[in-house]
Amino acid sequence: MQHRSDVLIIGSGAAGLSLALRLAESHSIALISKGKLTEGSTYYAQGGIAAVLDEHDSFDDHVADTLNAGADLCDPDVVRYVVEHGPENIQWLIKEGVPFTRDESHEPPFHLTREGGHSRRRIIHAADATGQAVETTLNQQVLQHSNIGLYEQHIAVDLITRQKLGQQGNRVLGAYVLNRETGHVEVFQARFVILATGGASKVYLYTSNPDTSTGDGIAMAWRAGCRVANMEFNQFHPTCLYHPEAKSFLVTEAIRGEGGHLKLPDGSRFMDRFDERGELAPRDIVARAIDHEMKRLGTECVYLDISHRPADFIKEHFPTVYQRCLEFGYDMTKQAIPVVPAAHYTCGGIMTDLKGETDISGLYAIGETAFTGLHGANRMASNSILECLVFAAAASQHILSQDKNDSQHAELPEWDESRVTDSDEEVVVTHNWHELRTFMWDYVGIVRTNKRLQRAQRRVNLLQKEIEEYYGNFRVTNDLLELRNLTDVADLIIQSAMERKESRGLHYTLDYPEVDSKPVNTILIPGNFPG
Ligand code: FAD
Ligand code: SIN
Repeated sequence: MQHRSDVLIIGSGAAGLSLALRLAESHSIALISKGKLTEGSTYYAQGGIAAVLDEHDSFDDHVADTLNAGADLCDPDVVRYVVEHGPENIQWLIKEGVPFTRDESHEPPFHLTREGGHSRRRIIHAADATGQAVETTLNQQVLQHSNIGLYEQHIAVDLITRQKLGQQGNRVLGAYVLNRETGHVEVFQARFVILATGGASKVYLYTSNPDTSTGDGIAMAWRAGCRVANMEFNQFHPTCLYHPEAKSFLVTEAIRGEGGHLKLPDGSRFMDRFDERGELAPRDIVARAIDHEMKRLGTECVYLDISHRPADFIKEHFPTVYQRCLEFGYDMTKQAIPVVPAAHYTCGGIMTDLKGETDISGLYAIGETAFTGLHGANRMASNSILECLVFAAAASQHILSQDKNDSQHAELPEWDESRVTDSDEEVVVTHNWHELRTFMWDYVGIVRTNKRLQRAQRRVNLLQKEIEEYYGNFRVTNDLLELRNLTDVADLIIQSAMERKESRGLHYTLDYPEVDSKPVNTILIPGNFPG
């Protein structure tokens, strides 16, 4: 089956939905999402969105905090660009109807909270369910647009480019997409294709992310010939609820922003021993400190305690976390809750310019899947949704400035299924999923060594061979596609980690514990793969 539109957007999180809304007046759009439209990291975001909204705050301060958290690896021009476009993008969300928590005593009348690395209160939020408010509001707007065709349960398999078809130049032409309901791969043709597929934290066994975060966009772009950068910087959120059934439920950093303390099992605080900012140090420092204390004491978790604040305040500001903890038997108004770090955010990704465009013309990458230069070696809290919004706006302006008429009118080749059969051994896929995520957690986690990375590399290369063979012989399924992408992304992470011979931000290795005096990005070029 062939579909045709001006724009194909792959992903329906904050990045994909905002771009769709910004283009929908003038362009026909196909918006595909591999699960339910609302499913993705955006829906689960808690803390909020960072932007300069307070008269005592300034662009310079937001820029300085971001550069500082990024451990000297952010691109200062990109940081300034994003920070300076923050307020207008928040205004846009307010206009779209996002119900941010209000504070009538403040001008503008919204409550601003704090998180790690921020020297000011600058995080606008909807209690502790900001992502849900953003996702559902934008989703409702998208549903009302006749120019936007929605395709849920459709997973993009690979990009179609001129180069892949043996034609001159390298422009994107569309994508092959598996319709999960029919089991058939369809062709989506478009003049502009946007990867808004989110991060890859599912490559780790323990993650705060939903199942969608399998790095599909990064893997597809890499296979199509795009450069990727800084894949070694995997952010571990310091505080996810420690409980066998909680699936690493996130406990927002805003709790520490509002005075929460991190404690050891004996009730003593420890963060001051690691950083003068204590619990509000940037995330890489807090996660590493927790990991260090857990290993030193042989404990399975540490504790987060905000019970010294009034119960009404806690229930009003953190209703989602309060309720979830209660379900697991912890009343955070009365007691400390057990927490551990878990994989949370992919700082690296597909390289783009300030318009969100990748190395392939017509192909854009926005949101967590992209590497723009904003986050450096460690993303500052609540700068992520901001990046989604700012780059959706930038990409939309660039697309609007170009001719939308497609010069390619011929149909694209259909997906070839003539040589594959249904799999008779799904266990290969489930086994490899688990194996990959376990060795990534054990060998490529918060603290790394050369030996651990080499072990991981041997295993990932073996898995890649096995999966390619399987992929060539059997009909594609959602799980197989995700496993293939995760394995490719794991390979990129390991390669990048091996390239970096220093410890910086989120990449910490016992073999090179010092910071190099000349910070550089790790850029991987397809066909020129190091190692
Ligand atoms: P996502 O929201 O992850 O959306 C990705 C979309 O792509 C999904 O619709 C998915 O189905 C689709 N997709 C993926 N692959 C394919 C494919 N092959 N084919 C079709 N569709 C595909 N950031 C902040 O700034 N503030 C916060 O408070 C905050 N809290 C967070 C809390 C949690 C628990 C988590 C997990 C993250 C949090 N983050 C926060 C990070 C932030 O939420 C994400 O980085 C951001 O929402 C990513 O948005 P996105 O649009 O790039 O991707
Ligand atoms: C949180 O609420 O702690 C998550 C914020 C973020 O990841 O930016």
